Amino acid sequence: MNESQPPPKNIVLIGFMGSGKSTVGRELHQRLGYSLVDMDQVIERRAGKPIAAIFAAEGEEAFRDMETEVLEELMLEVLKEVDAPRRIISTGGGVIGRERNRKLLRQLGYVVWLHAPLAVILDRTGRNRDRPLLHTEDPVARVEALLALRKPLYAEAAHLQVDTAGLDAGELAMGILESARYFFSGHW
Ligand code: S3P
Repeated sequence: MNESQPPPKNIVLIGFMGSGKSTVGRELHQRLGYSLVDMDQVIERRAGKPIAAIFAAEGEEAFRDMETEVLEELMLEVLKEVDAPRRIISTGGGVIGRERNRKLLRQLGYVVWLHAPLAVILDRTGRNRDRPLLHTEDPVARVEALLALRKPLYAEAAHLQVDTAGLDAGELAMGILESARYFFSGHW
């Protein structure tokens, strides 16, 4: 599949940790009835342990390999099934790190980058300890550094950028659906 062909009608959510991908993903799933693939959950189920434990036991690269594997499998389904089920795909915040992944994401569907203000990200990510990359002495500095590194990569992978500030999940889902309809223009 190349960029000139219309992508399959999946909606792919990307964005930093705490940007609201899972919540908006659930909202889109409810509104559209498309199945919801939460990549972090798929990986945890397969590995039989939480992401923090995967990082601790096998390292970040092994986790990144698992992310690429899930994307490759989703792509394979799209390629082999004429009427592959439509999906909402919610990704982990670091999935855009690999060039291969960025390409796969765009081939999988309409890629929406959710971005939240730094204060919101810090507040949300500060509330739980599930995210191994933030298990450092200075999580704020870590978030800032990762954001600076990743912003251009989210921008490269995304078809649409959405500023989530001040909007609830319902409002965000509505906006995303409108743009997705336009993007797929007439094919839905
Ligand atoms: C990560 C984000 C996490 C999870 C893992 C690594 C990252 O997902 O995939 O902890 O590199 O930003 P969320 O974005 O859903 O928190």
